[in-house]
Amino acid sequence: MNIVIAGSIAFDYLMSFPGDFMEHIKPDKLNKLSLSFLVDEMRKQYGGCAPNIAFTLALLGERPVVMGTAGQDFGDYRAWLEAHGVDTSGVRIIPGVFTASFFANTDLNQNQIASFYTGAMAYARELSFYDAPAPVDLTIVSPNDPLAMQKYPAECKALGIPYIYDPSQQVVRLDSEALREGVEGADILIVNDYEYELLKERTGMSDTDICATVKHAVIVTRGEQGSLIWADGEEISVPVVPPQQALDPTGVGDAYRAGLIKGLALGLPWRICGQIGALAATYVLETHGPQAHAYTLAAFGERYKTVFGEDTFTAYVG
Ligand SMILES: Nc1ncnc2c1ncn2[C@@H]1O[C@H](COP(=O)(O)OP(=O)(O)OP(=O)(O)O)[C@@H](O)[C@H]1O
Ligand SMILES: [Mg+2]
Repeated sequence: MNIVIAGSIAFDYLMSFPGDFMEHIKPDKLNKLSLSFLVDEMRKQYGGCAPNIAFTLALLGERPVVMGTAGQDFGDYRAWLEAHGVDTSGVRIIPGVFTASFFANTDLNQNQIASFYTGAMAYARELSFYDAPAPVDLTIVSPNDPLAMQKYPAECKALGIPYIYDPSQQVVRLDSEALREGVEGADILIVNDYEYELLKERTGMSDTDICATVKHAVIVTRGEQGSLIWADGEEISVPVVPPQQALDPTGVGDAYRAGLIKGLALGLPWRICGQIGALAATYVLETHGPQAHAYTLAAFGERYKTVFGEDTFTAYVG
């Protein structure tokens, strides 16, 4: 199955400030802000929605193609992804710019000062599904350059490519027209509960309107409360898989999507697709960063069986 994951590609630079930002921000001096924080720890992580989803999907035995734009600094990242079973042939390198980068500095009280440099991601609007080298069986349109996110659903519809619409955090950056076009005719819509409320507000669409236009399923993830899947006129409630330790939630949403896509690739019922998503998400919650987890398909299947008390995953994987 040819699965294309379209979305941002980014590096995360995560810094820890061993103090309190508030002590250095003087309310009486706010007419001129010039601060430099000496940080004692920095981690550089591979991130971006498309590689995050593709990484977990590859662990689950698929060979997804990442469609996105990266900069001149992508070399190591490409090698990492290829070594983990991700097809990076759909990544275009933009000469002379850096890969999108997220810089975040967090203090001891979890206050955060962050910037996101769009870099090469701004060129994602130049990519096109018309240039896909092979027929695409399924794609997911994940957070990316806003113009790219507007263009891809239209192309998918014109080309008859089934797509999962995943506007997520970019709901705030897309206008109501673009959002409505993305939702209308999508095979699946997936967002978290906060984004779902925002999506309804911005499009003026109701639950009924959304369920009527999305072809197969509307999925709303609800953090610790699990997820809801509306499909075939029914509501399925999928519980979370309790983590052994909740270390870092970065990338849980992306991992859920990868699990969901694995279930779809196997042609499994909705409840099982959601359960695979929930378990894939928990593995990410248990490690630092969105691509620090590792397991074999067999180990995943064993844990699935233990948690859900049924063998619906390995029964299909074989
Ligand atoms: N604390 C948790 N314990 C167990 N599972 C969790 C927890 N938080 C999230 N999950 C799992 O991950 C799924 C997606 O989480 P959530 O709704 O928080 O996504 P999100 O807000 O898009 O996350 P992200 O920060 O990655 O964008 C949930 O449906 C659930 O299965
Ligand atoms: Mg999310």
